[in-house]
Amino acid sequence: MNMIELSDICKTYGRGAEEIQILKHVSMTVAEGDFVAIVGPSGSGKSTLMNTIGLLDTPTSGTYTLDGVATGKLNDSQMAGVRNKKIGFIFQQFNLLPRLTALENVELPLIYAGLGKSERRERAKRMLESLGMGARIDHKPNQLSGGQQQRVAIARALAGSPSLLLADEPTGALDSKTGTEVLELMIQLNEQGNTIVLITHDLLIADNAKRVVSIRDGEIVDDKRNGPLVKEVQRA
Ligand SMILES: Nc1ncnc2c1ncn2[C@@H]1O[C@H](COP(=O)(O)OP(=O)(O)O)[C@@H](O)[C@H]1O
Ligand SMILES: [Mg+2]
Repeated sequence: MNMIELSDICKTYGRGAEEIQILKHVSMTVAEGDFVAIVGPSGSGKSTLMNTIGLLDTPTSGTYTLDGVATGKLNDSQMAGVRNKKIGFIFQQFNLLPRLTALENVELPLIYAGLGKSERRERAKRMLESLGMGARIDHKPNQLSGGQQQRVAIARALAGSPSLLLADEPTGALDSKTGTEVLELMIQLNEQGNTIVLITHDLLIADNAKRVVSIRDGEIVDDKRNGPLVKEVQRA
């Protein structure tokens, strides 16, 4: 079963002579359970593609089916609903709310998902514990290291049990040791059945993904499967 089906996706900005094409007839599918790294030079359209997959942005033309849902017909609030239910996001700069504790940050999407207070508190706590953050649930982001903040952000992304995990340069703001820990976490999550699509400049991550899609100038120029997943992540 395909989690993602992108067909002939184009994204342009401006019009007429001013028009710039960011995505040019991109077609790709991602199977449930896959672990895809998207690589390519800066400005090649990776984030635009990711935002399209994440329903944060709509294509100019083409069709996108996510987990069996034809997304082209959805209005904004339906898109937000699908996003909330099916997708977990991880960003380079973590995007935690500074005034909220780790626990409250993880709880936030569960409020939008309509969970009751005690249930979401319980679930957020369990999620943080499973990521080794049980002792720090009451800490604010500025009381946590970069790696710890990314763990909170990952807990937040996973709290609603999304079928798809999207990450835009998740290790871009981390030192290499912490980045390796986050990579190990991603591999674990994928082994537990999470479908993962991430953008990265980090060769260690690309080497450990199951599949690497290369983008250049808004087009997919390469798409290859890595050999058997490297079990022991090679430390830098
Ligand atoms: N809202 C926008 N309006 C005009 N151009 C944009 C907009 N968003 C992105 N772009 C342009 O699209 C290109 C691809 O951007 P992006 O998808 O962020 O690339 P990447 O993530 O690979 O660095 C860049 O040249 C960028 O300037
Ligand atoms: Mg980008």
